[in-house]
Amino acid sequence: MRFPPAAAAGACYAPRLIGACVNLSHRTVLITGGASGIGLALAQRLHARGCTVIVCGRRADRLAEAAAALPGLFTWVCDLTDPAERALLAVRVVAEHPELDVVIHNAGIQNRLRFDVPGAEWAAMHTEITTNLDAPIHLTQLLLPHLLARPDAAIVNVTSGLAFAPAAFAPVYSATKAALHSFTLSLRLQLRETSVRVLELVPPAVNTDLGGPGLHTFGEPVDAFVDAVLPRFEAGEVEVGYAYSEAGRLAGRAETDALFARINTPR
Ligand SMILES: NC(=O)c1ccc[n+]([C@@H]2O[C@H](COP(=O)([O-])OP(=O)(O)OC[C@H]3O[C@@H](n4cnc5c(N)ncnc54)[C@H](OP(=O)(O)O)[C@@H]3O)[C@@H](O)[C@H]2O)c1
Repeated sequence: MRFPPAAAAGACYAPRLIGACVNLSHRTVLITGGASGIGLALAQRLHARGCTVIVCGRRADRLAEAAAALPGLFTWVCDLTDPAERALLAVRVVAEHPELDVVIHNAGIQNRLRFDVPGAEWAAMHTEITTNLDAPIHLTQLLLPHLLARPDAAIVNVTSGLAFAPAAFAPVYSATKAALHSFTLSLRLQLRETSVRVLELVPPAVNTDLGGPGLHTFGEPVDAFVDAVLPRFEAGEVEVGYAYSEAGRLAGRAETDALFARINTPR
């Protein structure tokens, strides 16, 4: 693909700015990791807006709880670290929900690990990379032919404020989120003349069970976070943060260095 010169390309070369408004009502939405935390809060809001919502995750009990609370919710048990399970998910969702037009890549895990002492296991790191990066890229590749045929579609990648200033206690996690942010920018540019909008949700620390219960209790309340960000996508923003991640995504190098120091100061 040849890209036009920057001057002729207009807004697509200012990838964090306002785009066309995205309608998040009465859509058909797949949310990976949608049975807990941020994904569940998104599922609740979109369900209330009249969307058909499909959520997936590894824990059948959490999916059943979500389905009991949200009548009409579709659930799918899968482990997104397995490429075959991603492929099956993509085939089944498109076959059973041909009107699918919004995909939210939300599933993620966070490992706290150290490279300066023995014990960091490659298997855990690899699972983290596969979950946070391989899965959204592969699912995008699998679902794009379908989404490109829809008149109005959106892909939402859930990254993190740590994509912009990493937390050294979660070095692989932070790197996966930086990579997903980078991928999002490229994908948005490549798809700029298609019907598929590419959005990025950049959470700050949010009070969920990410990384294990009790590790994010200092974070922002999940309901306040989700209620604040969804209207911004609907108003046309393509990259949306909240609290410190809003400052982080817009920061210059000096501010990013200050943020890095703040994040990495022991509490
Ligand atoms: N909370 C924060 O402070 C924060 C900050 C920045 C970014 N984020 C991002 O926000 C997203 C949601 O996280 P959260 O905070 O809401 O934590 P969470 O409640 O732990 O949600 C993560 C979800 O991902 C699913 N998941 C994990 N591994 C999976 C796999 N292999 N296959 C399928 N599903 C999988 C989990 O379901 P199962 O365990 O049932 O599979 C879970 O529902 C993540 O991408 C996270 O990195 C969170």
